[in-house]
Parts: sequence; C-alpha cells; structure tokens
Amino acid sequence: MADKSMEGLNTFTAQDSATVDASRKLRVAIIGCGWIADAHIKAYLAQPDVEIVAGADLIPGKAAAFFAKHGIEGVKTDYASHKELIDDKSLALDAVSVCTYNRQHAAPAIYALENGINVLLEKPFTVTLDEAVEVMRAEKKSGKVLSIGFQPRLDENMKMIKKIVQSGELGQIYYIQTGGGRRRGIPTPFGTSFIEDATAGIGALGDIGCYSLDMVLNAIGYPKPLTVTGYKSNFFGTDPNYCGYKASKRAEYASKFGVDDFAAAFVRLEGGIILDFRISWAMNMDTPGDTIILVTQGGLLIPSTECWNGTVGGPMKIYHEVCGQQVCTEIPIINMKKGLFDLKIRTFLDAVKNGTPAPVPSSQILYNQAIIDGIAKSAELGHEIEIEIPEI
Ligand SMILES: NC(=O)c1ccc[n+]([C@@H]2O[C@H](COP(=O)([O-])OP(=O)(O)OC[C@H]3O[C@@H](n4cnc5c(N)ncnc54)[C@H](O)[C@@H]3O)[C@@H](O)[C@H]2O)c1
Repeated sequence: MADKSMEGLNTFTAQDSATVDASRKLRVAIIGCGWIADAHIKAYLAQPDVEIVAGADLIPGKAAAFFAKHGIEGVKTDYASHKELIDDKSLALDAVSVCTYNRQHAAPAIYALENGINVLLEKPFTVTLDEAVEVMRAEKKSGKVLSIGFQPRLDENMKMIKKIVQSGELGQIYYIQTGGGRRRGIPTPFGTSFIEDATAGIGALGDIGCYSLDMVLNAIGYPKPLTVTGYKSNFFGTDPNYCGYKASKRAEYASKFGVDDFAAAFVRLEGGIILDFRISWAMNMDTPGDTIILVTQGGLLIPSTECWNGTVGGPMKIYHEVCGQQVCTEIPIINMKKGLFDLKIRTFLDAVKNGTPAPVPSSQILYNQAIIDGIAKSAELGHEIEIEIPEI
C-alpha cells in the first residue's frame, strides 16, 4: 500500500516558538474574519516571527472589528473581498489563512496561490472534488505551500493510531468502521453559514465527517478510494421544532437548512479495504459507534467523542491473541502540552519558512474530498458510483 501519509503530519514536528528565528518575520493576512479566524489569530500572535498585516471580510466593518477585538493595530482591512486584499501588492504577503465558509474555500485559495502566496486553508478542503482539483492545479503551478486545516492530526493520540497500524504488528487491514457524531448538535450559534447551501454546501459531512475520514485514512496511508454507496438526510435540520432552533428562538433556520445533518457510506479502497462510515449532527442515538480497525492479527478500537471534534474519546484498545488467549491491551491517553491550533499554525509557518512540504498535504486530502463528493453524488443518484479523480 502506498503510504501517501508519510508526506504528512506524523513525520512533522513543530519548531518550538522559543527557538524560532524571529529576525525573519512572515507577513500574514486573514481572509474571512468569523468564528474560526479567532483561533488562527490567537495562534499567530503567539509566534515571534509573524506580522499580521491585513484582513478581509465580505461583511463591511467585520475585519476591522475583528482586529480591534484582538487589540491589533495598524492592520489594513479596507477590502471588499479576498480579491482586493490579494491585489494589494503593497502588503508583500508571505501567507494567508483562508477562514471563509466552505463555498468560499476554493476561490480565495486559488487566487492567493496564483499570486505566489502560501495558503493555510481551513477544512473541509472544498465542497466538491472538482474545486479541490482546481485548487491543486493552482498549487502545482505556484510551487507554494498549501496546507489544509486538519489540526486533530497533530494530537499525539491520533499519531499513535498511525504508529500502531503502520507497525505491521497487527497484520493486514481489511475493514474499518469510522465516524460518529452528535445526538443534537447542528452548529448555528454564529448564524447560518454552516447550514445554508449557498455558504456551507455540505453539512455534517464537511464539518466533522472529514475529520473522521482523516483519522483512519491518514493512519492507513491514504489509499485511493474506488467506489462509494452514499446516503445523506436532513430530517432534523429542516424541522422547525428542532430543539436547537427552539432554544435560540430561530424556527426560521429550518427553511434555510440546505445541507446534510446525517450521512453514511460504504466505500471500497485500494488494497481491498472496506470503509464503513457514518456521521451525524443530529440523530436519535447517542453514538453510531466507535471507530474500529480490523486487522488480521488484531483489532483497534478508538472510542468516539460525544461531540465528534476529531479526536479520540478515551483510551484505545487493541484486541489480540497471546499464547492462544484472547486479550485486550489498553493504550493510555497521551496528554498534549501544546494546543492543536498553535501546532497547526507553527507547522504551516515552518513549511513556508523552510520551503518544506505542507504539514497536511492536499495530495492526501484530495482522497478525503473525493469520498465526500462521492457520497453526495451517490446519495443523489441512489446507487453505487465509481470515484474518478481527474489528473492534477
Ligand atoms: N479547524 C477547525 O477546528 C474549524 C472549526 C470551525 C470552523 N472551521 C472551518 O472554518 C470555516 C469558517 O467557519 P466559521 O465558523 O469561521 O464561519 P463564519 O461564518 O463565522 O466566518 C466566515 C467568514 O468568512 C467571510 N467570507 C466569506 N467569503 C469571503 C471572501 N471571499 N472574502 C472575504 N471574506 C469572506 C464571511 O463573511 C464570514 O464572516 C469553515 O469552512 C469551517 O468548516 C474549522
């Protein structure tokens, strides 16, 4: 099995900010100044070699208010869109964080790359596979760093999944069940950008489904997806009596809901591996199951988290046989010293500064996006489809 993931984060360690060469500062801008941009700016501010020089948001005044809230002065924000910001050559940008909603991932990423700017693009990669391919073509042409915002990969517990699976000690992988989700957890605290088709394009699939796919695909070396039978539904999101809308007195959100709140799929991967996947923002169950990886000499169980934030929900277990006895070994949880967002930003900056590969390469996440795209297409057609990935 080709190990595409060895290009990825498990081989990366972030430079400690105390040892960073602060004499060479990178000029960074934020595109999209909403909720997740908060986490980006806090992490950038903790780095000694970054100068935040600009920000843009489609909503007039939002970027200026964002930087004022964070106490950052002298940042240029007088831009009506990402395009105006990137066109401002006086900024001499090294990098941008693209923190826009899903439907606006591809355009700013492509335009930044076309203009020779390194890009940290929030997850999911894009909404469709075709968009992801276009972004990668721009990346290839530019030779710049494009990293996709999958910070859960930097969790030492996630790295442990990959270490265990790739040690070869458990044998040959043949079946994976992954996914998880929430009983009630459609994300609307900041408005409707996660639930409207025009902004989000994909729902639970793009919000948390991409993480659960990455958890297992990264561990097993990102084999190519071949076929998919997908299903998606929206029973909760379109119900004006949904408890989340009632609590916030926003029954009108039901008519705006244009994405999936539950999805499931049966995917065949190269190497004869079966991937059984399900993800939920809302369902009448507390969990659709833990993640399990069945291997010929053992089985790995990764407990689900309640909210499915892309990490492990408790100590993992390996089911195996010793001297004819069926035993179970518990892997203790590793406590992280650094925040995942700090690591996400630092590993990206290190790649930009040193000209090294992206910490979360598009070449891997392309397959993640191909599965999501395949689920959406198969669900619409009502039958299994072959996944075709265009040449980049
Ligand atoms: N990595 C994580 O842990 C994590 C967590 C939450 C959200 N996200 C991702 O971050 C993205 C944004 O989520 P959010 O919650 O911040 O959304 P949000 O709606 O709060 O913010 C997005 C902002 O982008 C702006 N925008 C959209 N298109 C633009 C453009 N072309 N130019 C300039 N501004 C533009 C919008 O006006 C809005 O203010 C989503 O794709 C989401 O999946 C990642």
